[in-house]
Amino acid sequence: MPGPVRRLSARELLVLVGDLRPGTSAYRALADRIRLLITDGRIPAGTRLPSERELAAVAGRSRTTVVAAYRSLRESGHVVTRHGSGSLAALPAPGTPQGRPDRGVDFARAVPPPVEGLEEILAEVSARMVRALEGPGFDLLGNEALRQAIADRYTVRGLATSADQVLVTMGGQHAISLTAHTFLSRSDLVLVESPGYPHAYEALRRAGARLVTTPVTTDGWDVEHLLGSIRRLRPAAAYLIPDFHNPTGASMRPQDRARVAEAARAVGTVLIIDETTADLGIDRAWDDGPFARHGHAASPGSGSGVVTIGSLSKSVWGGLRLGWVRADASAVRRLVQARPAGDLGTPQLEQLLGERIVRALPELLPRRRELLRAHRAALSAALARHLPRWHAPWPDGGLSMWVQLDRPGSSALTSVCEARGLSLVAGPRFSVDGTFERFLRLPFTSPVADLDAGVRSLAESWELLSSRRPLGHRSRMPEMV
Ligand SMILES: Cc1ncc(COP(=O)(O)O)c(C=O)c1O
Repeated sequence: MPGPVRRLSARELLVLVGDLRPGTSAYRALADRIRLLITDGRIPAGTRLPSERELAAVAGRSRTTVVAAYRSLRESGHVVTRHGSGSLAALPAPGTPQGRPDRGVDFARAVPPPVEGLEEILAEVSARMVRALEGPGFDLLGNEALRQAIADRYTVRGLATSADQVLVTMGGQHAISLTAHTFLSRSDLVLVESPGYPHAYEALRRAGARLVTTPVTTDGWDVEHLLGSIRRLRPAAAYLIPDFHNPTGASMRPQDRARVAEAARAVGTVLIIDETTADLGIDRAWDDGPFARHGHAASPGSGSGVVTIGSLSKSVWGGLRLGWVRADASAVRRLVQARPAGDLGTPQLEQLLGERIVRALPELLPRRRELLRAHRAALSAALARHLPRWHAPWPDGGLSMWVQLDRPGSSALTSVCEARGLSLVAGPRFSVDGTFERFLRLPFTSPVADLDAGVRSLAESWELLSSRRPLGHRSRMPEMV
């Protein structure tokens, strides 16, 4: 005889769920948190959950949000609804097609959902959007209010910045590409990390650069190699991602930043510091502020030094297409002059919204952190469950894990997975020379239910590969971000 059904009141459930703020993906955040609680046993299977109506009332949420969250939980098999007994927590039966490959689990793109709270900002700002209709509606430098908001944030974080040191772009990628095309000449040597961010490699190469590499692992940089390369090769530029590096998740220690900045200053190497991922800390014990603090300490007032790339894509939402370059005012003027060859400016509509968002970052970022924390835990649990022989170091921030496989085969695995509807980017894509067959970048940005289903599918594909059946499928390059 089964025992009496345990019942969870709305109040008890909300205590377990934690802070519930309104926002764009509120239903998804609620569903993900409940799913995680069920998966890790804090809500035992069989527990009767509060009714949708009760939960909505006690949480002060719209009924639609709670109904959508329960629907998502039902679809993933974490809630079963029985007439007469309400909604019961459940563990999906093995093989339950939750987050099915046929729905296309996406491990190719490290694209998080819109940050919680963005919807309200949109609603609030929309009334003021008409102001964007006053002028031409786009501009090369960026509107004054947004540049001031970005500059203020740097200043608050320890790097005194004025609005004339900021140029607004259409995302971080645009900022990298514009920087490369403006400051590099054909055949210039540029030092890049390996592994590193592939679209930066492409932008730098397209600007004529010859790439040389310095190694990074999940434990961080080989700083002596990096310093030695700068001193010996005297590259025109070095492109680095010092916070929550894509794909390893590593962060460069503050004392090493100072040494790198000094070595670059000594030989005239421009540091292109990509801080697109810098606001994605989950539980890193320290925050050293913007990297360029070191550049400025080492070369006060110098025209060369550090060009910082920023973006709202990962911390807020990729759909905004808002990024920026922070550099010396003279460098910003050069960027403005060079820009029309590629595009004629950033739309005002996005910029109006952007100003409000940048000013709200101190409230938005903790929400982003909580989402990443839950998703990282879900991916880690799924890997431990389905692929225990893979080595998956736990990053303290960022959007992905740089996973070491138990044998080389990343590209072949990607082909098998693709044939089964699972998008993946093989390790070698993150290298300049085709290495890293033993590695895979796994983003934890998909919905939590999809993460477990995706890793299960990954494990099945890995198994299939070891049985060496013919693939019968030609690989294409998935879109990766
Ligand atoms: C390190 C890094 N820089 C830049 C970008 C591009 O960002 P955006 O979407 O703002 O163009 C990405 C996106 O994945 C990234 O990981």
